[in-house]
Amino acid sequence: MQKTRVLTGITPSGTPHLGNYVGAIKPAIQASQDPSVQPYYFLADLHALIKCQDPKRVQQSRLEIAATWLALGLDTDNAVFYRQSDIPEIPELTWMLSCVCAKGLMNRAHAYKAAVADNETAGQPDPDKGVTMGLFGYPVLMAADILMFNANKVPVGRDQIQHIEMARDMAGRFNHLYKGQYFTLPEAVVDERVQVLGGLDGRKMSKSYNNTIPLFASEKKLLKLVRKIKTNSLEPGEPKDPDSCTLFQIYSAFATQEESAGMRQRYLEGIGWGEAKDELFEYLNMHLREPRERYMALMEDPGHIETVLQEGAERARAEAAPLMERLRQVVGLGRFI
Ligand code: TRP
Repeated sequence: MQKTRVLTGITPSGTPHLGNYVGAIKPAIQASQDPSVQPYYFLADLHALIKCQDPKRVQQSRLEIAATWLALGLDTDNAVFYRQSDIPEIPELTWMLSCVCAKGLMNRAHAYKAAVADNETAGQPDPDKGVTMGLFGYPVLMAADILMFNANKVPVGRDQIQHIEMARDMAGRFNHLYKGQYFTLPEAVVDERVQVLGGLDGRKMSKSYNNTIPLFASEKKLLKLVRKIKTNSLEPGEPKDPDSCTLFQIYSAFATQEESAGMRQRYLEGIGWGEAKDELFEYLNMHLREPRERYMALMEDPGHIETVLQEGAERARAEAAPLMERLRQVVGLGRFI
């Protein structure tokens, strides 16, 4: 049976938080245990350079993200787990795709459009102020990530659907121009069931709002942060609405259906906020204790993480190198003899 190739990239630009776990890491690790799936998961570290020019942060984030996925049980025997920057074929393919990709297509990419719109709002006469070629051409790099491994499915957030469509566009154009089926057309998969978690202030948990709870915060820190989650002024004994409550939302993202139903009942019966927070902390801590310990041990052993990623890169390159070799022939850059 031909396995479905599922590929996704994680941009290392911060410390993984509960929202990342629920929205991306957990579903990806679950998918990696499905025997009909061949996962390709990678650290999109070339992408990280678009937004972050602080080498220490890029380096630290790469390590933290790799340690996080391993600590949470990613099966690297099945999943090909690698760093984008270890695959030199990816930037090479990026160039080939750049040469068949219309500039006008990139003008429509939303990250670029948002940067231009910000300049306009700020009354900036140059609409491209602060826009690098990295930001402008970012969907081409992403297309190379995907097309290199002939991914069938790409699980992404809504904001990334456009990029998958652009990758299909580039694949189709290359196939057409060079008259062959070199690339599989990828499909975006947006899982409607995946939850978007609220953060400390009730807005979406996101690094850019500075309202996150790091997945592997120490016990003490976790308690402190849970206590900071915004609630309202209802007193203990007054019935509370679980559906508009961040505490309940985070709890139910981790809990079983029965546990959530039980907690829902306690909201209706008027659980106090202090108690609800203590329960959430206990629950999270119980689930995160073991992976946190594994995470700490991994962070102490970067050599091990390096070995795992090198093995992943080797498996990835075993596919990328022959494809690139073929593509060189196809575009007229093959050897003379
Ligand atoms: N751009 C994606 C994001 O910001 C990360 C990413 C890079 C990616 N390359 C990819 C996702 C390829 C899926 C496939 O979330």
